[in-house]
Amino acid sequence: MILVTGGAGFIGSNFVLDWLCRSDESVINLDKLTYAGNLENLASLQGDRRHTFIRGDIGDADLVASLLNEHKPRAVINFAAESHVDRSIHGPEDFIQTNIVGTFRLLEAVRGYWGGLSSETKQSFRFLHVSTDEVYGSLDKGEPGFSETRRYEPNSPYSASKAASDHLVRAYHHTYGLPALTTNCSNNYGPYHFPEKLIPLMIVNAVSGKPLPVYGDGQQIRDWLYVKDHCSAIRRVLEAGRVGEVYNIGGCNEKPNIEIVHAICALLDELRPLSTTHSPLTTYRSLITHVADRPGHDRRYAIDASKIERELGWKPAETFETGIRKTVRWYLDNQSWVSNVQSGAYRTWVEKNYQGRG
Ligand code: NAD
Ligand code: DAU
Repeated sequence: MILVTGGAGFIGSNFVLDWLCRSDESVINLDKLTYAGNLENLASLQGDRRHTFIRGDIGDADLVASLLNEHKPRAVINFAAESHVDRSIHGPEDFIQTNIVGTFRLLEAVRGYWGGLSSETKQSFRFLHVSTDEVYGSLDKGEPGFSETRRYEPNSPYSASKAASDHLVRAYHHTYGLPALTTNCSNNYGPYHFPEKLIPLMIVNAVSGKPLPVYGDGQQIRDWLYVKDHCSAIRRVLEAGRVGEVYNIGGCNEKPNIEIVHAICALLDELRPLSTTHSPLTTYRSLITHVADRPGHDRRYAIDASKIERELGWKPAETFETGIRKTVRWYLDNQSWVSNVQSGAYRTWVEKNYQGRG
């Protein structure tokens, strides 16, 4: 079996669902259920004996050690993190605690467990750390995409905390020989994405007729990857990645934010046209509002994914056009998921982030 951390969040839950569609290998899912963790994402696994959910913190070394010793996983895949850049700007503490201290404690518990395995299982064991392209900082126009040897230059408390966790993973491999792998991926989108991030926020706001808040000039560039493609890359790295290596994962889909918002509006105009009897608007584009920029906003990310393609034969299956269409449809078809995540806590956060941005 495998142990997944953060498997009730956006990417982790997609990973667990995809894993159990493809394999009968059981999953132990350890998640603290912060505001971003949502068991509803895993509702289809109710009663499935291959999935065991444990509510807990990766920083709880005793809990992690007892789970490892009881279930004896052959691999640990670490998705658990605080993941939202804007939240890290408003309050970095949780990011330091989970992304740095939590990863450290998790690594310590895994090192203890791994050290006690027989030599054969010790060799085949894997610790896969899921990280981000944001650790590399911001690219200038025309610069090549981030390769695995790019210097770390994190610019937000979030990316700095992820960079620290990547360094710890590297050190545990180098110093103790822990069979670790790290993946650094670009921006994901798809089902179960919490509506505080650009794409789900724009869909959800548009559907309820709210403004679409674009930070600054909207010309910041991200490289978008459909979440299922990220999951397939992680499975491939787990299966065949070289121990101690880093693999960058990306969609070859660089787009300015404003283009993303226009694409969402165009799809909504097609799939859920505004009714002119109920609204004076004819297109969702009219809801776009430019607001104050994110402090320290990275201008451009892009990934050079040639290593994972060359060594492991991985390529994304979706284009941006196919992936964004599936995503918009998913949100339209899952309105009750959306209303359930819009809890009191979420609304408080939205007020705090957008108040005073103009
Ligand atoms: P998310 O915020 O949607 O989910 C994070 C999950 O981790 C939640 O279920 C939360 O409850 C859980 N969690 C938080 N703190 C925990 C703790 N201390 N112990 C146990 N569980 C805890 O995040 P996501 O977007 O799914 O990202 C998952 C991972 O992928 C993160 O490590 C993130 O840095 C990385 N990543 C994300 C993206 C992206 O575009 N979303 C891109 C590249 C890498
Ligand atoms: O690059 C990978 C990273 O992508 C992950 O490591 C992070 O966990 C994930 O949150 C994401 O970070 P970003 O900051 O790029 O994603 P976000 O969706 O928050 O913002 C995407 C872009 O859209 C960014 O340039 C900021 C902008 N934006 C975002 C929001 C929420 C807006 O213009 N308006 C908004 O309301």
